[in-house]
Amino acid sequence: MVYTHDVKKAAEILSGSRFAIALTGAGISADSGIPTFRGRDGLWQGYRPEDLATPEAFRRDPVKVWRWYLWRLELISSAKPNDGHKALAALEKLGVLKCVVTQNVDCLHQLAGSRCVIELHGNIRRARCDNCGYKDDVSRILGDIPPHCPRCNHIMRPDVVWFGELIPDDIWEKTVELFTRSDVVLVVGTSSTVMPAAMLPVMSKEKGARIIEVNVESSALTYITDIFIRGRASVVLPAILREVENMIRR
Ligand code: APR
Repeated sequence: MVYTHDVKKAAEILSGSRFAIALTGAGISADSGIPTFRGRDGLWQGYRPEDLATPEAFRRDPVKVWRWYLWRLELISSAKPNDGHKALAALEKLGVLKCVVTQNVDCLHQLAGSRCVIELHGNIRRARCDNCGYKDDVSRILGDIPPHCPRCNHIMRPDVVWFGELIPDDIWEKTVELFTRSDVVLVVGTSSTVMPAAMLPVMSKEKGARIIEVNVESSALTYITDIFIRGRASVVLPAILREVENMIRR
């Protein structure tokens, strides 16, 4: 394998870390059959975010937005965690990885067995009422489109973070704490173009953390990485896990 040296190096850094965390994006779920956003077949090639993923778009046409989210939910519901998700869960179980911070809304990290998962952009399986704060599984509140809140009858929305919206305070504070504390950040499958997630590894780097990146191509963040491993997450992460296991056994 071309990247054997880098895989070993990454495993060494992870094994010797004090507080390693991962930041993941759509690329880790690509091998589970979920389209990314900015790749060649990415969702933003065929759709415009301003029509579907902003508060204004929802106010203008909630039915259109809901239909798009239900279509994505259907895709996601039939997807299974791949070996990349599973490797991160196994690294957590070994005590090597402390938490996964994900931009994904698909729940595949949790389904793979990761216990500490922070969802920066929400969860597509949940709906939320902005009037009274009620949240529930989409499957439980869905009847009419758009669904209405069973408590206050206000229109409900997907429980995700749209362009132009802030990440909820409690989640953001916990995330900043993790990235400030971490000495190693494993960045997987993100173009690192969407703020504020894209600045998190930079924050860690400024505090002295080492950055390992796994991606099929270079990203906006690659320039700050200590190790860049080009390859699919479902192949590279299990390879890193195997090396870590070997090192621990020795
Ligand atoms: N393994 C690793 N990386 C991959 C793979 C793979 N199998 N397939 C694709 N990638 C990489 C691409 O090279 C790209 O850098 O995954 C990245 C996906 O980038 P984006 O589509 O921009 O996804 P992401 O970075 O997660 O987007 C951030 O943008 O639209 C919003 O809210 C949405 O959370 C999303 C945010």
